[in-house]
Amino acid sequence: MNNNLNAIISGGASGLGASTAENIITSGGKVTILDIQEEFGKETANKLGEKCNFIKVDITEETIVQEYFIKVSKETGPISLSVNCAGIGTPAKVLNKDGSHSLALYTKIINVNLIGTFNCIKAAAYVMQNNQPNSEGTRGVIVNTASIAAFDGQVGQAAYSASKSGIVGMTLPIARELARNGIRVNTIAPGLFDTPLLAGLPDEAKESLISSTLHPHRLGQPKEYASLVRHIYENEMLNGETIRLDGSLRMAPR
Ligand SMILES: NC(=O)c1ccc[n+]([C@@H]2O[C@H](COP(=O)([O-])OP(=O)(O)OC[C@H]3O[C@@H](n4cnc5c(N)ncnc54)[C@H](O)[C@@H]3O)[C@@H](O)[C@H]2O)c1
Repeated sequence: MNNNLNAIISGGASGLGASTAENIITSGGKVTILDIQEEFGKETANKLGEKCNFIKVDITEETIVQEYFIKVSKETGPISLSVNCAGIGTPAKVLNKDGSHSLALYTKIINVNLIGTFNCIKAAAYVMQNNQPNSEGTRGVIVNTASIAAFDGQVGQAAYSASKSGIVGMTLPIARELARNGIRVNTIAPGLFDTPLLAGLPDEAKESLISSTLHPHRLGQPKEYASLVRHIYENEMLNGETIRLDGSLRMAPR
């Protein structure tokens, strides 16, 4: 089964997506990374070898994303797994020193995190519907990335939390719809993981979040996210679910 694993990972140039790419390549699968960051994307793909390709793309572009999913499935074979990791998280308060939250920033975060994720889901479903089903009738698996901020977002996370709870909210209805096509859809809601995204967070905020993590008392490692993606791919009973991966971290208001 692993040798047939052919994945597209959006946001796979860095962090959780790059670690997932490594997990899949190491066990004999193939990966195409879609990411807006050309330098990191090429670097990650080169490091992982000839079974990993990189395509520069903005996941919010409707036609281009659809075309790339079709092109990749023609060139590399049926896409059995689509992992959606691309995301941004600029914090901003509703009321701040500039007056109030910029609507342009709010829209941008929703556009990348929520609409971009949906754009990749529909492109993946479009190509997966034509795959040969396995013995369970499964043609493909889609894994999205929300955040525990979907449930306990902090001050400054209005847009980010809204975008991530949108991903949680659409997981079940999309899984219900795509069940007839043999496509499973699940979402991972990570707690605090050691990736470049986190580098933007002040040390004080990071320490406070780590101290709220029950056990283990540390940041999550990207390879732990990757191994959950792997489990979701392999466990046929997982469908329509959002799984928190957070060491039982419940974020405080700030
Ligand atoms: N690291 C954490 O603690 C954490 C916690 C909860 C949720 N998440 C979520 O996990 C996902 C991965 O985060 P990460 O920590 O690996 O961050 P990261 O910054 O290392 O990776 C995110 C990737 O998304 C790409 N990207 C951003 N906008 C894009 C666009 N428009 N089109 C294509 N690619 C785009 C970036 O270039 C980057 O390579 C994100 O959705 C993030 O919100 C991360």
